[in-house]
Amino acid sequence: MYAAELVGVTKRFGPVLANDGIDLAVARGEVHAVVGENGAGKSTLMSILYGLHRPDAGEVRRDGNRIVLRSPTDAIRHGLGMVHQRFRLFPGLTVAENIVIGAEPVRNGRLDRAAANEAVAALSERYGLRADPSALVGGLPVGVRQRVEILRALYRDAEVLILDEPTAVLTPGETDRLFEVLRTVAATGVSILLVTHKLSEVLAVGDRVTVLRQGRVTGRFTASETDADELVNAMIGRSLTPPVPRRARPPVGDPLLEVRDLTVRDADGVARLSEVSFAVRPGEIVGLAGVAGSGQRELVDSVTGLRGAVPGVFLAGTPVLAGRDPRVAYVPEDRHGRATAPEMSVAENVLMGAQRDLASRWTLPRARVRARARDLVDRFSISAASVDTPIGALSGGNAQKAVLARELTRPSTVVVAEEPTQGVDVGVRERVHALLRTARDEGAAILLQSSELSELRDLADRILVLYEGRVIAEFPGDATETELGRAMTGATG
Ligand SMILES: Nc1ncnc2c1ncn2[C@@H]1O[C@H](COP(=O)(O)OP(=O)(O)OP(=O)(O)O)[C@@H](O)[C@H]1O
Ligand SMILES: [Mg+2]
Repeated sequence: MYAAELVGVTKRFGPVLANDGIDLAVARGEVHAVVGENGAGKSTLMSILYGLHRPDAGEVRRDGNRIVLRSPTDAIRHGLGMVHQRFRLFPGLTVAENIVIGAEPVRNGRLDRAAANEAVAALSERYGLRADPSALVGGLPVGVRQRVEILRALYRDAEVLILDEPTAVLTPGETDRLFEVLRTVAATGVSILLVTHKLSEVLAVGDRVTVLRQGRVTGRFTASETDADELVNAMIGRSLTPPVPRRARPPVGDPLLEVRDLTVRDADGVARLSEVSFAVRPGEIVGLAGVAGSGQRELVDSVTGLRGAVPGVFLAGTPVLAGRDPRVAYVPEDRHGRATAPEMSVAENVLMGAQRDLASRWTLPRARVRARARDLVDRFSISAASVDTPIGALSGGNAQKAVLARELTRPSTVVVAEEPTQGVDVGVRERVHALLRTARDEGAAILLQSSELSELRDLADRILVLYEGRVIAEFPGDATETELGRAMTGATG
């Protein structure tokens, strides 16, 4: 008997067939990975299992019995739990308060804080999920906040735990710790559904793997008996092309981006960046590595002009302009907040900032806008029902391709890319990398911030390591992950 089953699940969103007769069964205590291209229907399927969407056809079973889920409340009652990618935690409350909220132990009509702390401590102990019950959630690193979300589901007695791309926001170290936790939790009999784009993770932590493509199951594998190539084939119907060998040709010409002695302080006067200096020449990709919070945010914001006209940043020899310097193409990490206006159409989003070239006598001809947008949608293979669809309705990978379509077709010479392949599938990742290499070969100066060392090694000509706001090391692009990882923890020499 399976802990949870989805049987013949079909779900449409207007013309889009997001799930098309999907069968998926999860055994007790197994880690079941779900992989597939962007838009394959993974999140939709998980949302159905958590009562967020109703299927048009098919059913959900728990321990062999059909259940009807009208809401997440129903799902929780049936022992289903979900860890959301955008955490739903209250930063001003403690860890214990966040975990028990909505199901608080009560004494004399008030929250029994001691009982809550005790229950949380017991849970942490049982599953090896370390978190201080009395710490305020607002001050905790992402990896710990995620642990709080997991504890919240376990506190509600989840027997099936759904995690949709939990590692997208984690550093490599945090990912390792999460996997240890998942193994511990699964060993107690809890079933885990893990959606991820990182195939190495699937092979490392999964017991079984289900592959989705265009709303259907295209493969079922036992993790120990498959490999990345077989999974990729089931996902995208082909193998990946091997990476192009690194160019030997050194970049020439004056730097397009130069950072000189840049120091940035936060509101409390604490230095977040200290005397950072480097230059990026035309035709060069400079990678930026570092554990989260080492100054990447401040550096990117300084270079794009988002921190104002900070002294020390020069674009083609002249100081950066405040606001958002139009000479910089910027692919932000936060696709939905900074990069797109979710309620606006795909056309409006891909052409934002290009209105000037398209306008004729102060009006923006609608036909011309749509034709140009359609052209970009084709060139960057963005899958959307139409260019009038709100961009917020696109899958993560397609939204990212739209951002790249807009930014890489600007007449800019400096490109700042922040986690450009976070949450995108292997096919899109290959395409994004090809687009960045093309931009470089056409003479752009690219600053690439990524928490994935393999991405930096694939793309960068040089890699700078940030540690506590300083550039503490510089490596050639083919440095090993061990070398980089050591430098990222502050070890020099
Ligand atoms: N609420 C919605 N309204 C309209 N269309 C939707 C909605 N949710 C999903 N879709 C569409 O359904 C399809 C499947 O989307 P889903 O989010 O399940 O894919 P996914 O596999 O999770 O992709 P990703 O890897 O990018 O997260 C996509 O074409 C998507 O645009
Ligand atoms: Mg998804």
